[in-house]
Amino acid sequence: KFEELALTPPMGWNSWNKFACNVDEAMIRQMADAMVSSGMKDAGYTYINIDDCWHGTRDSLGFIHPDVKRFPSGMKALSDYVHSKGLKLGIYSDAGWQTCGGRPGSRGYEYQDALTYASWGIDYLKYDWCNTDGLKGEGAYKTMSAAIRKAGRPVVLSICEWGTDKPWLWGPSVGHLWRTTGDISNCFDCLEDHGSWKSLGAMQILDMQDTLRAYAGPGHWNDPDMLEIGNGKMTPAEDRSHFSMWAMLCAPLIAGNDLRTMSRETRKVLANKEVIAVNQDPLGIQALKYNMKDSVQTWIKPLKNGDWSVGFLNRSVSPKMVNINWGEMVVTDTVAKRTLNTNIATYSLRDLWLKKDRGTTKDPLNVSIPAHDILLLRLRK
Ligand code: GLA
Repeated sequence: KFEELALTPPMGWNSWNKFACNVDEAMIRQMADAMVSSGMKDAGYTYINIDDCWHGTRDSLGFIHPDVKRFPSGMKALSDYVHSKGLKLGIYSDAGWQTCGGRPGSRGYEYQDALTYASWGIDYLKYDWCNTDGLKGEGAYKTMSAAIRKAGRPVVLSICEWGTDKPWLWGPSVGHLWRTTGDISNCFDCLEDHGSWKSLGAMQILDMQDTLRAYAGPGHWNDPDMLEIGNGKMTPAEDRSHFSMWAMLCAPLIAGNDLRTMSRETRKVLANKEVIAVNQDPLGIQALKYNMKDSVQTWIKPLKNGDWSVGFLNRSVSPKMVNINWGEMVVTDTVAKRTLNTNIATYSLRDLWLKKDRGTTKDPLNVSIPAHDILLLRLRK
């Protein structure tokens, strides 16, 4: 059922962040292979998503075809291959008359395209928002949502209108996830004004998510955009923080790097199962920002069975000491309707990056957190 397709945040890979318009079928097949051989599939990643620029032209009957040079075997053969690996295939279109990359959009062809994607065996559609003059976000996405349901194949619908029309207000009944901001830049903390656009690093995007937490839940997620981990611009600490925070935000975990050539270090970040479990927790409640003290932000996420995850994120460029007396940190989460109070219950602490236990909430926690790094804990009752 459409409503039950993304009860936890979708996990997969997408071509855009690393390859932009350079997509072809050989590369997509190799990415599916790498998803399996790297252990990413085993860690929960499922979708192989082709972003913009796979398109050829529409024929005289209006049917869209892939670029014959880049996808000579056609999309059905490609989805058969991806499915044979136990993975799912995603594709990209646009609510306007052209995609952001200038390829044919779906405007006026929504039902026809949805049927075409279904016949190709597509499992995920990212639906973009370029060249949409005169359209209203909610209506345009509702049309594609209805078309997908009518076509009869279960397809995850990713709403990509950059937060323009407050998609968190209408998105839950229309699609499974909605972008909340403009595109992520490949940097950790880099607000730069380019006149017509502002670069958004992982931290700039993070700062825009906190107020949206009540809108996310099983089947419908805020999407702070795809991951830049392993794309060469962030330090290992920054990669860890980026991944941890996307996990805490219940963000879709869509890797954006070259899976074929990723380093061991990158793989250890992307495939950290204990961090992924925080993201995929069945409660599906996004973390709340508890406070910021001396450049260290504390984020708290309620988990199933009374567990919590707590992240101490060092936003500064120098190491910071964190000294926590757990009993002083009593936090009521109004979304989960639950209170974390270690004066009433004692929790054991698990460090999700070092993968080791760190005592209990009975003892104060004193740790130094390196620049831009994070201490991510799971509190177990
Ligand atoms: C927009 C989207 C990006 C990507 C490009 C493709 O900018 O927000 O994620 O899909 O289009 O052209």
